[in-house]
Amino acid sequence: MDKLLITGGIPLNGELRVSGAKNAALPILAGTLLSETLVSVGNVPHLLDITTTMELLGRMGIGLTVDEKLNIEVDTRSIGSYLAPYDLVKTMRASILVLGPLVARFGQAEVSLPGGCAIGGRPVNLHLQGLAQMGAEIDVRNGYIHARAKRLKGCRLVLDLVTVTGTENLMMAATLAEGTTVIENAAREPEVVDLANFLNMMGARIHGAGTDVLEIEGVPSLSADGRLYRVMPDRIEAGTYLVAAAITGGRLKLKDVRPEILDAVLQKLREAGARISVTDDTVELDMGGQRPHAVSIRTAPYPAFPTDMQAQFMALNAVADGVGVITETIFENRFMHVQEMQRMGADITVESHTAIIRGKPALTGAPVMATDLRASASLVLAGLVAEGQTMVDRIYHIDRGYECIEEKLSQLGAEIRRVPQ
Ligand code: UD1
Repeated sequence: MDKLLITGGIPLNGELRVSGAKNAALPILAGTLLSETLVSVGNVPHLLDITTTMELLGRMGIGLTVDEKLNIEVDTRSIGSYLAPYDLVKTMRASILVLGPLVARFGQAEVSLPGGCAIGGRPVNLHLQGLAQMGAEIDVRNGYIHARAKRLKGCRLVLDLVTVTGTENLMMAATLAEGTTVIENAAREPEVVDLANFLNMMGARIHGAGTDVLEIEGVPSLSADGRLYRVMPDRIEAGTYLVAAAITGGRLKLKDVRPEILDAVLQKLREAGARISVTDDTVELDMGGQRPHAVSIRTAPYPAFPTDMQAQFMALNAVADGVGVITETIFENRFMHVQEMQRMGADITVESHTAIIRGKPALTGAPVMATDLRASASLVLAGLVAEGQTMVDRIYHIDRGYECIEEKLSQLGAEIRRVPQ
C-alpha cells in the first residue's frame, strides 16, 4: 500500500486546473446505461472510483472505449448481465447508481447491498422505497437487491430526507417510466443538475433540477446518438486545494472552476481571513502569509456547507487563531480524522456530532492513517502545515477521489511524494 510523505511548512503558491467532478461522473457513467445508442462522456477524472465504475459496466458486457482525449465512449448494446457484484460494490458504494437505470431500461437488476462504511451506516432504503412506489418488485436476499419491473410507473415520491444518490437513482429510473414522476424533497446538489442535463441531452424530460421538486415526464427511450457530454468541475477538489493554500498562508489561482457553486466554502475562507476574487471560471485566493482565523461550520445539504469539506476545515481550524466549532449533521461517524489530527498535536474535543477545535500555532508531523476519502485529504492538509514530516498511510482512499494529488500539490511548491510499499 502506497503512502504519502509530506514535509510541512511551505506556503503553497501557483495555479491549478480543477478536474472533472467525481460525484457527477459516477452517476453520469451509470446513466449511460439508459442510452440505446453510443454515448461519450468527457472531462472524466482519472480516479480509482472511475476505474471501478468502468469495471462494473465492463462486467455487464458493456463496450467501453477511451479515446486519446480520455473521453469514454459507452456502447450498451452488448449488455449481457444486470449484476453489480459484492466485490465491486463493497469498494464503492456509488455502484448502487446502476440500480435505477437497469430496472428502468432492462426490467431487472441484481445489486449487492453496500453495507456500512467508515463514516456510518449509509442505508439505501429510500432508493428501494422509491423504486417500489414506481412499481418495481424489490426483494432483498443473500445480501443482494433483486429488482424487477415490466415498465415503471410515474408517481409522486416524497423523500424522507435529502439523499444525493437516492435522488439520482430515482430520477434516472423515472426518465423511462410511464407517465410523470414528481420527486419532492429532492437533493439540490449541482451534481444532480449535471446528471439531469446529461439525461436531457439524451431526450429525457426532467424539469426543476437544482430545486427540491423534480418533475420527470417519462419517455419510451433515451438515445445520445454518439454525442459527448462533458462532466462539470469538481467543487470538492477545488475547495480542498483552496484550504491547502489558506492553511499554509499561500496563494492559489484555480482554473476551470465554477465559483457560484462554491459559495458556502468561499464564505468560510473569507471569514478565515483569505482575500478571494472570482471570475466566471476562476477563483484566486491570497492568504498574505497570515495564520487563518478559526471558523465555525455546520454541514447540511446543498446549498449549505458540504459535509465533504468538513474534514478539511477541521485541519484549518487546528492551526487557526481562535476556537472553531464544527457540527456534522449528515453522517453519524464522520470525525474519524480527529484522532489522527490529535496525534499531530491538534486540540480537538468531540461531543456527539460537534467538534470544538482550539487552534494552535503549529502541528507536529507524525505517521497517520487515512480512514475515508475526505478524512485522508484533511490529513494531507494538516501535514502541509505541520512541523517536520508526516506519513499518511492507506492512501488508496485519496486515490478514490483526488486526481494526482501529490503532483498537483508539488506543482504548488509543496514537498510531498508517494512512497511505494
Ligand atoms: C453523496 C456523495 C457523498 C456526499 C453525500 C452527502 C456521491 C457519489 N456521494 O453520497 O460524497 O458526502 O452525498 O452530500 O455523490 N440516507 C438514508 N437512506 C437512504 C439514503 C441516504 O437514510 O436511502 C441517509 C444517509 O445515511 C446520510 C444522508 O441520508 O445520513 C445523506 O446521504 P446521501 O445524500 O444519500 O449520501 P450519498 O448519496 O451516499
